Amino acid sequence: MVNLRINDRPVTVEDGTSILHAARQLGITIPSLCYLKHVSKVAACRVCMVEIKGTDRLMAACDTICAEGMEVYTNTLRALVARRNNVQLILSQHDCNCATCVRSGNCTLQKLAADMNIIENPYETKLPANNWNPKLPVIRTASKCVQCFRCIAVCEKIQGMSVWDFLGTGSRATVGVRGGKKLDEVNCAYCGQCITHCPTGALRERDDTEKVISAIDDPKKVVVLQVAPAVRAAWGEGLGLPKELATEGRMAAAFRAAGANYVFDTNFAADLTIMEEGSELLYKMKHSWEFRRPLFTSCCPGWVRFLKLEYPDMVPQLSTAKSPQQMFGAVTKTWFAKTHNIDPKDIFCVSVMPCVAKKYECAVPEINSSGFRDVDAVLTTREVDRLLRLKWINVADLPEEEFDSPLGEGTGAAVIFGATGGVMEAALRTAYAVLEGHNPDPDAFQAVRGTDGRKEISATIGGVPVRACVASGLANARTVVEDIRAGRAQYDFVEIMACPGGCAGGGGQPFQEGMELAGERGETLYEIDRNNPVRFSHENASVQKAYDDFFDKPLSHRAHELLHTDQTKWSLR
Ligand code: SF4
Ligand code: SF4
Ligand code: SF4
Ligand code: FES
Repeated sequence: MVNLRINDRPVTVEDGTSILHAARQLGITIPSLCYLKHVSKVAACRVCMVEIKGTDRLMAACDTICAEGMEVYTNTLRALVARRNNVQLILSQHDCNCATCVRSGNCTLQKLAADMNIIENPYETKLPANNWNPKLPVIRTASKCVQCFRCIAVCEKIQGMSVWDFLGTGSRATVGVRGGKKLDEVNCAYCGQCITHCPTGALRERDDTEKVISAIDDPKKVVVLQVAPAVRAAWGEGLGLPKELATEGRMAAAFRAAGANYVFDTNFAADLTIMEEGSELLYKMKHSWEFRRPLFTSCCPGWVRFLKLEYPDMVPQLSTAKSPQQMFGAVTKTWFAKTHNIDPKDIFCVSVMPCVAKKYECAVPEINSSGFRDVDAVLTTREVDRLLRLKWINVADLPEEEFDSPLGEGTGAAVIFGATGGVMEAALRTAYAVLEGHNPDPDAFQAVRGTDGRKEISATIGGVPVRACVASGLANARTVVEDIRAGRAQYDFVEIMACPGGCAGGGGQPFQEGMELAGERGETLYEIDRNNPVRFSHENASVQKAYDDFFDKPLSHRAHELLHTDQTKWSLR
C-alpha cells in the first residue's frame, strides 16, 4: 500500500494506483479526456495535469503512479491554467459547431469547455478536411476528432480488430483507418464500440431518422416497427427518464405516438429464432458425421461479419438461421401482410436496435427473401431517442400501452437475447423441453449469465451431452475461434456477441461517459424474463400460430426460404 496526500488530505491506495484514481477515492475530481479505464492510458490530452510538490513539471494524473509520501495539488492556479490552455488548444483543432453535433449535451469536450469557463479561444482554428463515405454505417468526422486515441485502443484491445491507427508523424500525426484505407476496405465488423467510447461527435452511426420520418409522413406507407430486446433496458437513458418510467409499455406508447402504425416486438422473432436455430442444432447433432462442430449462433451481424471476413473457411459452421431482425422483416412482409390484407410493397419495416451492424445487415442484398427489402431502415437506440425528441413527445406523461398483436408477443426467453448468454440459455431451455419431454426449471441454465467475456457450460439433456460456450467482445471471440481451430477446445454450440456484454452494451446504445452499463442493463432484462408468465420460446402462442397458419413446422421448406439464409453468399463490401 502507498500513503500520500492529495490537496492536504491523506489517502492510502494500492500499489500501482494512478493519481487520478487516488483522487477519485477521496471524491476529488480531476478532469480527463483521453483516459479510458482498463483500456487506454496514452496521456495524450494533458487535461488531467496536477502539481506534485518537489517536481518542476506538471504531471498527467491519469499516467502518474502514486508514490509513498507524495504531495499532490489538483487545483493550483498553475494546474488550472495549464489544463484550460490544453483544452483551448484542442478546441482550436475542433469543429465547435455544437448546435449541429449529434453529441451536443453529452460530449466530454463540450462539458470540459463549459466547466473551465472557456468562452473565447486565443488560438487560431485549423480544421482537417472531412472525407468520408456518408453511406457507411459508421461515420467519422475528422474535424471533430480530438486525437484521444480511445477508438484505436477499444478496437484493438477489446475487439481485437485494429481498424484505427495513428497516421502521419509529428505535428501532422492524426487518427484514421489503418494504412490510410477506407473503412469498407478493411475488416471493420461495424460493431460500433469505437463510437460508444469516443468522447466527442467524431464517431457516430449513419443517421437514418429522416428516412423513417418520411415513411411516417407518407400516407401510402404502413410503418411497422420492431424493437429489439436490449433497447427496452436503455431507451430511457438518452431521454433522462428514470428507470421506473422507462417501461416496455411506455416505450410502446412512445413509438406509437411517434407515428408507427404497428409497434411490434423483435422478441417474437427471437422466439422464432430459437425454434429454427434450436431445431437446426438438434438436427446437426443427430447427423454429426455430416457437419463440423460447433454450430455458431448467427443473430449478431457484427460477429457474423467478423467470421466471414477473418475466418471464411468456418462460415459453413454458422447457423443458417437469420437474425431475429431479419426473420421479423421476412415474416412482416409475408405472413403479416397476407393476414392483414396489406400489400407488402406498402409496408415500411423499421427496426429499433442497440446495434450499428444491423444497418449493414439489413442492406445485404442476399438476405432478403420476402420479394421486397425485408427491413427498410434500422434506427439505433440513440437515433430513436432523437426521433422522440424531434417529435416533441412528452414521453414521461404517456400512459403505458401494449405491443400490437400478433408480432408483439414475446417470452422471457426472448428478452434475454439482449444479454450475453441469453441466446444460449433460451436455446437450452427449449432443447431440454424437446429432448426430455417436459420443461426444465427456467433458471436451470443460469450459469451462462453475467458479463464475463467467456463462459462454458456442459449439460446432459435427454441423454445427450452438450458442451457449450458463450463469448462476447470480438477479442474474446477470436480466442474461442483460435482454440477451436487448434483443437484446444471442443464445443457443440457456441454463442457469440460482438459487443462486450452482448447487445445490452451494444454499439448503438446511449452514450455513458466512463461507464460500462451492459451488466446493469442485462439485469433489467433478466428481471423482465422473471416477471414474464411465459419463459419458453416454444410456448409463444403467436409463434405457434405462425407455424400452424403459415410455416408448418421448424425447418420446413417455407421456413428455409424465409427464415434462413445462405451464409456463404453475403456481400461483405
Ligand atoms: S475518433 Fe473519437 S475516439 Fe477516436 S481519436 Fe478521435 S476523438 Fe478519440
Ligand atoms: S466498428 Fe468495431 S470493428 Fe469497426 S472500427 Fe469500430 S470498434 Fe473496430
Ligand atoms: S452484440 Fe448486439 S449490438 Fe453488438 S453487434 Fe452484435 S447484435 Fe449488434
Ligand atoms: S486524461 Fe490524462 S492525459 Fe488525457
